[in-house]
Amino acid sequence: MTSASSISPVVVITGASSGIGRATALAFAEQGARLVLAARREPELEAVARSCRELGAQAVVAPADVSSAEDVQRLASQAAQAFGHIDVWINNAGVLHFGRVDETPTEVLDRVLSVNLSGALYGSRAALAHFRRRGRGTLINTGSVLGLVGQPFAAAYIASKFGVRGLSEALRQEVHDQPDIHVCTVMPAAIDTAAYQRAANYMGREMLPIRLLYPPEAVARVCVKLWKRPRREAFAGPAFGLVTATGKALAPALSEWVTEVAARTMEVGSAPRDASEGNLWRPSSDGLDENGGWRRRFARRTPPLTLLGLGLGLGVAGAFALSRTLGNRNAAVTPAA
Ligand SMILES: NC(=O)c1ccc[n+]([C@@H]2O[C@H](COP(=O)([O-])OP(=O)(O)OC[C@H]3O[C@@H](n4cnc5c(N)ncnc54)[C@H](OP(=O)(O)O)[C@@H]3O)[C@@H](O)[C@H]2O)c1
Repeated sequence: MTSASSISPVVVITGASSGIGRATALAFAEQGARLVLAARREPELEAVARSCRELGAQAVVAPADVSSAEDVQRLASQAAQAFGHIDVWINNAGVLHFGRVDETPTEVLDRVLSVNLSGALYGSRAALAHFRRRGRGTLINTGSVLGLVGQPFAAAYIASKFGVRGLSEALRQEVHDQPDIHVCTVMPAAIDTAAYQRAANYMGREMLPIRLLYPPEAVARVCVKLWKRPRREAFAGPAFGLVTATGKALAPALSEWVTEVAARTMEVGSAPRDASEGNLWRPSSDGLDENGGWRRRFARRTPPLTLLGLGLGLGVAGAFALSRTLGNRNAAVTPAA
């Protein structure tokens, strides 16, 4: 039985001008949804709305900065005015930063938390107030696999994604008395979007995603599934998500070590970069709204054998670290002679 409350759902999506949010808008348009699309860039939102209409959906745009509680409240009012009610609210807007925490300006760290975590909190608050009045609705918060396990050089981003997961968990408990209100977290693996090019960067080097990339449409499909059949949490890029979750549960120290090595070896590029605040305060119109072009770039530069070698290298290093972890654990319980 599906929990979807309406055949033609009214869906609010933040961060809909680009990447995952754009793909999610198009996926819901294919379901005949009525869409309210939010982000800061109005022309890019209009372009997404046009594509949604070409698929037969209704779509309106509502420019908003999610770090402003007033903007988010206005977004909820605009959605209710446009279509009478809201069925699904997706907090997807997000920004990224790179840099060691002590080398990153405090205001950059604050801004990442404000957009990613406060933005999701304001959106959740507005959505749940509306859902309570109606007695139904589905809230989807966009976390990340990096809300399960940390990674160096993006401390505020990681904290925000651990926070989003906790936010959803707390809100599920708050709406426990409301059987038709659902709170879900979608946790994407690495996705081929321009988030990496647009990130604030204080590393002095170009930063890249890891090589195991999924297209934004993979996350969009999971969001549609969550509307049809809500679940507490869902991975987008399930193999990657399950390996991460299992590794974290069974061998937390090892899993931290593996993600650290993966970040250090795959994400830190060699090309020099000046310090930049990226798109944190001012949106970037770089023509990369469909995807980041990373899979094309890596397919050209990374032959399959290199990937295989990298995978094997990580596997061997992981096995070595596991044996050390187990060895240390045994040593800790062996009584002194
Ligand atoms: N790409 C990945 O590997 C990955 C992995 C896991 C999770 N995620 C999460 O997925 C979400 C979408 O990211 P993406 O990869 O699709 O990146 P993206 O292509 O850069 O999209 C980010 C979206 O957020 C919007 N946005 C940024 N700041 C905003 C603000 N202050 N107010 C309103 N909208 C704002 C951007 O539009 P404007 O610039 O027009 O405002 C854009 O539509 C983020 O929450 C991200 O953390 C991404």
